[in-house]
Amino acid sequence: MRIAVINGVNLNALGDRDPALYGGLSYAELETRLYQWGMALDVSVRCFQTNHEGQFIDWCHDARRWADGVVLNPGAWTHYSYAIRDAVELIDVPVVEVHLSNILEREEWRRRSVIEDIAAHRILGKGPEGYREALAWLAGSQ
Ligand code: DQA
Repeated sequence: MRIAVINGVNLNALGDRDPALYGGLSYAELETRLYQWGMALDVSVRCFQTNHEGQFIDWCHDARRWADGVVLNPGAWTHYSYAIRDAVELIDVPVVEVHLSNILEREEWRRRSVIEDIAAHRILGKGPEGYREALAWLAGSQ
């Protein structure tokens, strides 16, 4: 099974963001864990991160050609990008929406996700562990 993990805007700055919200790992450390968790689950993981919305969308489109499952954390785009929603709608393999923080318990504007109703599964507020759960969920959904 091949899984695309696509992270959006500001997630490259993870180690510098509030650890109480986002966990203490840097983005590089998160990627290392993702590859280790993938190996343990016997799935092939490819990680992507960008601060450019069009690039995020291009990777969603690319994933349609090769991935059997997709893990997405669009960062702040989650809350307003209908362009990303349209791209996610095109993905016909299961999509898991992951947020390190629990967006439902934060500011009003963060509570809404434009992809919540089209994601096959959502994991909120579990920090980096949420990504491991997302891989495990996709591995179990085969
Ligand atoms: C986030 C939550 C978003 O509201 C925020 O803009 C992020 C990260 C999360 O993983 O908790 O950048 O997606």
